[in-house]
Amino acid sequence: MEMRFKIFRFDPETDEEPYYRNYTVVAEPQERILDCLNRIKWEQDGTLAYRMSCGHGVCGSDGMRINGVCGLACQKLVREYEGLEVVLEPLPFFKVLKDLVVDMEHFLDGIRLIRPYLVSDSAPPEAERQQSPEDRKKVDDVIRCILCACCTGSCPVMIQNEKYVGPAALVWAYRFIFDTRDDRYAERLKQIDFHDGAWSCVNFFECTRVCPKGIPVTKSINFLKREIQKALPGRTG
Ligand code: SF4
Ligand code: SF4
Ligand code: FES
Repeated sequence: MEMRFKIFRFDPETDEEPYYRNYTVVAEPQERILDCLNRIKWEQDGTLAYRMSCGHGVCGSDGMRINGVCGLACQKLVREYEGLEVVLEPLPFFKVLKDLVVDMEHFLDGIRLIRPYLVSDSAPPEAERQQSPEDRKKVDDVIRCILCACCTGSCPVMIQNEKYVGPAALVWAYRFIFDTRDDRYAERLKQIDFHDGAWSCVNFFECTRVCPKGIPVTKSINFLKREIQKALPGRTG
């Protein structure tokens, strides 16, 4: 079928203002929006910039706004948009480097802030650090995060407060706070216990709605808030 696209374009080196360009491609219903983007780039307009790598919902690099909703272009099927014009835009709240490519540094700063790696006081074992299946279950959901930033790009709090560390960073904090092999439980809770940390989330649930990995983001953040209140006496939020 014939698919109509309206794509956000902006090259800060040559354009004064962003604009939209229209394209038409023929695609099969079971193809993905990413397949259409590739066809546009390879066959019609080599200047179009976007990120992609795995093509299968694993690398998290093709997060963008598709008809107003953040998602992965490689996960959205053409047939979901039959008869519609598909508007592709960069993730909101992110600085545009070119077209659909955004600057991820600020987002990654939030992730770095929570130290996204295991910190243990015990000596390294000969092989890997083992974990029981029950303990692993505690982080099963959040461990699926691929850092696509769709959640942060959808969070209404970011409109007013760009300092908010954002839902993805909190998901990563959760991952290590509840990992039984990590020894920085209290320290990690303190790290997210500030206004622009866990307490900026006001339960809009947008992050949960858009997460391509089905992570219960809002529920996890609420769990973290309760954990802070429980573990750090005197906290009321
Ligand atoms: S639940 Fe919290 S983090 Fe998620 S979109 Fe809403 S305010 Fe943002
Ligand atoms: S929590 Fe979900 S939406 Fe957010 S970065 Fe991770 S995978 Fe993407
Ligand atoms: S290209 Fe890797 S997640 Fe879409």
